[in-house]
Amino acid sequence: PETGCLSIVVLGASGDLAKKKTFPALFNLYRQGFLNPDEVHIFGYARTKISDEELRDRIRGYLVDEKNAEQAEALSKFLQLVKYVSGPYDSEEGFQRLDHAISEHEIAKNSSEGSSRRLFYLALPPSVYPSVCKMIKTCCMNKSDLGGWTRIVVEKPFGKDLESAEQLSSQIGELFDESQIYRIDHYLGKELVQNMLVLRFANRFFLPLWNRDNIENVQIVFREDFGTEGRGGYFDEYGIIRDIIQNHLLQVLCLIAMEKPISLKPEHIRDEKVKVLQSVVPISDDEVVLGQYQGYRDDPTVPNDSNTPTFATTILRIHNERWEGVPFILKAGKALNSRKAEIRIQFKDVPGDIFRCQKQGRNEFVIRLQPSEAMYMKLTVKQPGLEMNTVQSELDLSYGQRYQGVAIPEAYERLILDTIKGDQQHFVRRDELKVAWEIFTPLLHRIDRGEVKSIPYKQGSRGPKEADQLLEKAGYLQTHGY
Ligand code: BG6
Repeated sequence: PETGCLSIVVLGASGDLAKKKTFPALFNLYRQGFLNPDEVHIFGYARTKISDEELRDRIRGYLVDEKNAEQAEALSKFLQLVKYVSGPYDSEEGFQRLDHAISEHEIAKNSSEGSSRRLFYLALPPSVYPSVCKMIKTCCMNKSDLGGWTRIVVEKPFGKDLESAEQLSSQIGELFDESQIYRIDHYLGKELVQNMLVLRFANRFFLPLWNRDNIENVQIVFREDFGTEGRGGYFDEYGIIRDIIQNHLLQVLCLIAMEKPISLKPEHIRDEKVKVLQSVVPISDDEVVLGQYQGYRDDPTVPNDSNTPTFATTILRIHNERWEGVPFILKAGKALNSRKAEIRIQFKDVPGDIFRCQKQGRNEFVIRLQPSEAMYMKLTVKQPGLEMNTVQSELDLSYGQRYQGVAIPEAYERLILDTIKGDQQHFVRRDELKVAWEIFTPLLHRIDRGEVKSIPYKQGSRGPKEADQLLEKAGYLQTHGY
């Protein structure tokens, strides 16, 4: 592993994302020994004028269960590594002060023989990315003659449509090389998402089945049982397609549908993802159902006539030899009846079914990303007993049982560690992002113009009934208990 001074700068340090995700992930990495206190310093940067101690107070509560004594001790050591610099996002003066603070740390900790590594995490809205990147480039690059690097991590939403995303990409691309830019999609850090390639390409079972001859439909579902709580202003500008489907669910689709990469090199994997995205055909309006939960507009930051969807079901179709004719149903919604993210792969009926058991349900392979990570396969077996009856049962690999006591890392922990190691496999490449926007932009523009309407649905429900009807039309067979 690389050694030398490591400075991690969290820009937008007092924001929601930094407090809830970035700092907790950094703390967990520290606790597990991945951040060496002799090398690491963490800097928060934001506009708010507060002291180091005030920043520590603001994040402390998000990092640990205070009652856990072991964690409490680690916490106080960790917080000593956290410093704060305040300043605007568009002034050289602020970033010069930041650079000065980083350099001081480098001089103190370095390592005359060490290189210096600078990681900038932009926990900020995309509107300030260009100016922040420019400031980093002008004032804060690694200057060590002894090597090292400067990397930047950017969060979604990366643009609002194809044009704005491309503009943002060019602006940042002029300042940084693609190898320095880490576009985070935290779904790529989830355990069962990372398992997809292994599952598909290390198991003989799946190889011959994974295609249009055997698979009837694929469903990728995200549900949340809470609304936009406190984020109405942000959300209303983006909606569920930009917030969840165009990135998180589409990334999952890539891993399900892509061809086998020639190796595990990040570029080879990302090449295959781009290819499958390029095979997606334009979305047709009659394969889209939008919804908005009742009460969404009560948020004072949401306009009274908002058409922004908080729910969407869309069908994507992939025009290639493997997937022609197989609907990929992407569904996401807020304020629904449960919190769950899963992939459901439904297989075709058995031809000439002598048991006449189809009504019991099809073979279905379910990968539950969260909560309670699991994979299970629904299959038909003989009901135990004297009679020759059939019943649907499950081959079940529930991680909580099978891997008892194994802690599953948080997505952000893994991904931040990858940025430090310089592994871009689980990050979105520029051309991948471009195709992702190409797929959704025409639909998004039609929604923005009010040409596709959101249907109201009750909070705590399954979403609009029209979405279930669309699923049925696409050939999805509702099974018991779903
Ligand atoms: C974020 C979205 O990217 O993902 C949020 O902006 C959403 O709206 C969140 O709540 C869901 O993440 P997870 O990991 O809880 O499924």
